[in-house]
Order: sequence, then structure tokens, then C-alpha cells
Amino acid sequence: MHRIIRAALVTTIAFAAGARADDFPTRPVTIIVPFAAGGPSDAMARILAERMKVTLGQAVLVENVTGAGGSIGVGRAVQSPPDGYTISFGHLGTHVANGAVYKLKYDLVADLEPVVLLPSNPMIIVSKNAVPATSLKELLDWLKSRASPAAAGTAGAGSGSHIAGVYFENVTGIKLQYVPYRGTGPALNDLVAGQIDLIVDQTSNSINQVRAGTIRAYAVTDAKRLASAPEIPTTDEAGLKGFHMTLWSGMWVPKGTPKNVVARLNAAAVEALNDPAVKKQMENLGLEMPPADQLTPDALGVRQKAEIAKWWPMIKAADIKVD
Ligand code: MLT
Repeated sequence: MHRIIRAALVTTIAFAAGARADDFPTRPVTIIVPFAAGGPSDAMARILAERMKVTLGQAVLVENVTGAGGSIGVGRAVQSPPDGYTISFGHLGTHVANGAVYKLKYDLVADLEPVVLLPSNPMIIVSKNAVPATSLKELLDWLKSRASPAAAGTAGAGSGSHIAGVYFENVTGIKLQYVPYRGTGPALNDLVAGQIDLIVDQTSNSINQVRAGTIRAYAVTDAKRLASAPEIPTTDEAGLKGFHMTLWSGMWVPKGTPKNVVARLNAAAVEALNDPAVKKQMENLGLEMPPADQLTPDALGVRQKAEIAKWWPMIKAADIKVD
């Protein structure tokens, strides 16, 4: 008798979950951004949230949960119920590099379901205006001439700006002194104020300060110039040939989230990405939209796995110590 009741109970619960998933969402959805407000991740998430709420018919809230290079915020999302109401926003740093830097309490692939690949951008090498250099070559000469390493702002060990700094050290042989922040929004404020010397930053974060003349740009880490800032040379042109890094972003949900809920979130994000106003906002920030054939959840999963294979050896070789 027990077995029949138990089977009926399991069926009822599954049916109820399925039914709930079918009418998803029936309440606000939260995007956890693992960096401070005002930075590039926060900016992209808020642009998307504003448009996704139209498709989903529910509020889409952005919650900043910061610390440890973004791994605290991702951990919070991983621990949330797999019901689609909590989304993990992240990127090459949080959903690839963190796994090579920290002993994470979660697995970046096994504990998350990919939802959608988001826009990407090259990194940009920027300094405070007081640095006596007007070209990348002069910046490298200045860095080499210093008695002590220059202060480079990052969003914490394992963040995109930190990995970009490690990569910069590898290609130039120049040591940097990292100054960690809860995001590159606060780091940029200190760069403008002259409190730190440089950032290898997401272009989308620094580009408006470069345009305003409050910081100086030397190159973008790409083979081609930015369409939205053609005056900034590439690393290839400026003297660091082959120093290329593209920071792509994405959204994930906890493993076990129903497939139709993942599909519903994917559709809302894709509709946002295809909105001309959203595209314009992203492109003005120097962000490149993902290709149409890269917008399925699987495409993000494939990208994440390929980037783990690509970046982990360099990051592990750097033997990054995190307290
Ligand atoms: C990073 O450096 O990982 C991000 O740009 C940080 C942020 O989005 O604030």
C-alpha cells in the first residue's frame, strides 16, 4: 500500500513542479551580479533586466553579491532553488578563471545550467592621466623604470581584470601590484582619482571615462580596433602583438532547473539582445553582440568548457595565492 501512495505522491509533486514551470514566471526573477554596482557586469545586467521584464511579464531585479573575485555571488546563485527565479550573471572570470584560482564549494560546469551567451568585449589598457606616457611603448618603459611595481586595480583574484593583468605580466615580464576591489566600477573611480596607476579593464567599463579624458587608453586587446572607438590602437599595432583577450559574459541557473524554464529565460534574453535599443546601448559601450547561432544554452556550455581548457593552464601556472 505504501508503495502505491508513495508513487502517487511523487507523481503529484512532479506534476505540480511541471505545472509550476509551465506558467513560469509567476513572481519577480533575480539576477545575481557578483560584482559591485556601477561596473561593467552590473551595467550589462541592468540593461538586460530592463528589457527581459517586458517579455517575462514580471519584475527582473539585479542583486549585487560581491567578494572573492565574483565567486561569492556565483556560490549564492548555485545554492538557490533550481526554479529559474535566481540567475547567475557572470563571465570569463567568474565562470572560468575562478575555478582555477579558488577551491570552490561548487563545480562551475556540473552545478550550473547555461542559459545564454551575452555580449563580449576586448580588454583595454588604461592608466591615470598622471602617468608620463602617451603610447603603449612609453607606458611599458615607464613601468619597467619604476623602483616598485605599479598599482593595478582589479575586481579581485580570479576576476576578468585580474586574469587580464596576469596575462599582461606574462607577455611583458613586468610585475604588477594588484589592488582588489569589489568590482571594476569602484576600481575605475580610484583610477580617475589617481589613487591607482592602471587597470587592464573591460572596454565597456572604461570607454566613457576615456572619451571624457579623465583616464588614458593605450590599446585594446584585439586584432581589430573598436568600431565605437576607432582612435584606440590594438595591442598588435601598439607593440604587444598577439596579446588578445575577449571577455564574454553569460547567464546561468542552478543545475536541475526545468528545461522549459531555461528555455523561457533564454527566449527573454534573446529577445532583449535582438532589441535595437539594447543593441545600441551595448555597442556604444564597445560590446560585440553574440552571433545568432551562438544564442542557445548549449552554445554557452560549449564556450565555457572550451575557455576552461584554454585559460586554466596559464592561470594555474601563475600560481595565484588567494588568502
Ligand atoms: C571583472 O574585472 O571581472 C569585471 O569587469 C568586474 C565587474 O564587472 O565589476
